[in-house]
Amino acid sequence: MSKLGGFGATVMGTGMAIPGRVVTNQDLERMVDTSDQWIVERTGIRTRYVAEEGVLTTDLAEAASREALRNAGVAPEDLDLILVGTNSPDTLFPAVAAKLQGRLGAVRAGAADVQSGCTGSLYAMAMAAGGIASGAFRHVLVVGAEVLSRMIDWTDRNTCVLFGDGAGAVVMGPASCGGGRVEGFSLRADGTKHDLITFMGGLVEHPASEETLAAGMHHVKMKGNDVFKFVNREIPPFIDGFLEEMGLSPEEVAHWVFHQANWRIIDGVLKRMGLPEDRAVVNLDRYGNTSSASILMALHEAVSSGRVSKGDRVLMSSFGAGMTYGALLLQY
Ligand code: ACO
Repeated sequence: MSKLGGFGATVMGTGMAIPGRVVTNQDLERMVDTSDQWIVERTGIRTRYVAEEGVLTTDLAEAASREALRNAGVAPEDLDLILVGTNSPDTLFPAVAAKLQGRLGAVRAGAADVQSGCTGSLYAMAMAAGGIASGAFRHVLVVGAEVLSRMIDWTDRNTCVLFGDGAGAVVMGPASCGGGRVEGFSLRADGTKHDLITFMGGLVEHPASEETLAAGMHHVKMKGNDVFKFVNREIPPFIDGFLEEMGLSPEEVAHWVFHQANWRIIDGVLKRMGLPEDRAVVNLDRYGNTSSASILMALHEAVSSGRVSKGDRVLMSSFGAGMTYGALLLQY
């Protein structure tokens, strides 16, 4: 757990972008053996957005970034670093962040992707916050952007009903800039569970071959029920411990921005904390699980809708492939 000292760090502005094509549960009923009722009851998801042909992760990242820069009042030339949390980069290299740097004309900025399952953007926010608090960076653009629809097996009902495409972005700066001040964060991983969510094919361990294609290794594979159990076991005590270290009770957090994977997971954590449902920011019903974009999209919607008032605390928490997880606390 890290409490921020030094210059501190703050979220100065947020943005998001979604592609144009909506896919409903009814559409999925026509594609795989599933039902709207099963998807809604087991996940809470009703629709998700899918990138049209030719739309890249960088395109969504750019649209979300431009909105976040506008809302923050920061020019691209004033960025020191661009970090993009993504598990569906256009290409393994170059990084999405590098292409984004070029498109934005962020001429003084370094650029790197952070690939850490759905927790990537939360990891990136924490790294940005640490760098800003130390004085190493002044303005950092953090993006979560995914076009996972291109990496999903649309004949596999275990995964295709869950994911959606989208991007969220935040511009971060020193605490003196106002906005949502980062009070602290905690990052964790349990790499012994690396086989729960995977995309195996086409790289070092399993170079692309007819065998990897036949084995479906070029698609996302997930042991959904094991992920569900892992998260329900690990996340509630982790968040409890984090808040205790921050010297706060759950009641003092006004808005809970959880990774938008499954309403049942979010509901379970809230119940364990004894909190009402309306404390959670929820948009998974509309967007599905947008992986590393999810918490940044949810934060943007909460802030831009006026839901977050001055003084409110916002707890962001995510989990994903690795397994990785983490939490980050903001005060507006
Ligand atoms: N429609 C209908 N039936 C289905 C579907 C579907 N889309 N998918 C699975 N089923 C069936 C299964 O085959 C199984 O049938 P069986 O009992 O005959 O074998 C039954 O439904 C129950 O399956 P479970 O996997 O036990 O269902 P569960 O209640 O666990 O819900 C789910 C599945 C929604 C995937 C849940 O486990 C979950 O949300 N897990 C967490 C996933 C997650 O959060 N991933 C995020 C990380 S992603 C990342 O980092 C990139």
